[in-house]
Amino acid sequence: MTTTLTIRRPDDWHLHLRDGEMLAAVCPESARHFGRAIIMPNLVPPVVTGSDAARYKERILAARPAGSDFTPLMTLYLTEDTDPEDVAQAHRDGIVQAVKLYPAGATTNSASGVRNFDRVRGVLERMAEIGLPLCVHGEVTDDDVDIFDREAVFIERVLDPLRRATPGLRVVMEHITTADGVEYAQSVDEDLAATITTHHLVINRNFILAGGIKPHYYCLPVAKRERHRLALRKAAISGDARFFLGTDSAPHTDPLKEQACGCAGCFTATNTMSILAQVFEDEGALHRLEGFTSRHGPGFYKLPVNDDTITLTKSNTPVDYPDKIHTGDGPVTLFDPQFPLHWSVADASSG
Ligand code: DOR
Ligand code: ZN
Repeated sequence: MTTTLTIRRPDDWHLHLRDGEMLAAVCPESARHFGRAIIMPNLVPPVVTGSDAARYKERILAARPAGSDFTPLMTLYLTEDTDPEDVAQAHRDGIVQAVKLYPAGATTNSASGVRNFDRVRGVLERMAEIGLPLCVHGEVTDDDVDIFDREAVFIERVLDPLRRATPGLRVVMEHITTADGVEYAQSVDEDLAATITTHHLVINRNFILAGGIKPHYYCLPVAKRERHRLALRKAAISGDARFFLGTDSAPHTDPLKEQACGCAGCFTATNTMSILAQVFEDEGALHRLEGFTSRHGPGFYKLPVNDDTITLTKSNTPVDYPDKIHTGDGPVTLFDPQFPLHWSVADASSG
């Protein structure tokens, strides 16, 4: 039986760190295990210009624990007013590693997102020229499309036409939740990848809705039927470099989750590596964990893998995680996978 596993230090290719008190509380949770993270720009107001991103990066660096090398990889929030030249300059200056596309109204703080895709054509063409990836929240927002169908409809109506209209544009399908997302990512050999969250490997829509409504399992895109969860697991453990980890760890305080109109987001930064080790072990694929968490992402983003390693160890008694982490804004509930976690990150070594 495998009881220890040493892998290159993982990265998180989709993370919400927020700002202020929340940033101070959650940044150390990600910095503990992850080397780098792609930082989502959906603050209020959003991170839209290169100078916004540079200032936000400074605030993140200041929130790291002493001695931490955790590196935030910044993104810009694409709006219909985004200036292609500002994007190109921020890329040249090494300030941003991607641009994030939120269809307007799709999720938390997405009101400044894109309604008319013709209005961002110039930015997308510039990004294709310079090789800057576009991270896509892939859901349509039309009232007449069922929320469980919004990803599949987005792929057909928006993503595929957009990619065909912009040859060379490098795209990350963020937090895919459907077999349709898996199939689309697999159908393209170059310039397309997909991130998968920890929680979407664990929950289906019953977790949210069966036996009472469970707001801490509500996120966007919303978890789908079991067959979709199984398709995501298969993709994650497949060894296919087009799939890699983006936790979408998205903290909201309990009062904001547990109300008549609760916020979308699961907070998984703290226990993600324990959960993933368990999932990969259950699938007989521990040897593929490193690819998913530490190698495929840098490959797509054309960055080196981390130099150092982490070691996961398996103990007979389950690891204890707190139910909540405490922040200056209030408590944040940690994602509960509803199975015991026997793996924990034991040790970090450089070299
Ligand atoms: O569940 C989600 N929470 N999905 C998103 O796309 C945004 C995120 C957030 O910012 O809370
Ligand atoms: Zn997100």
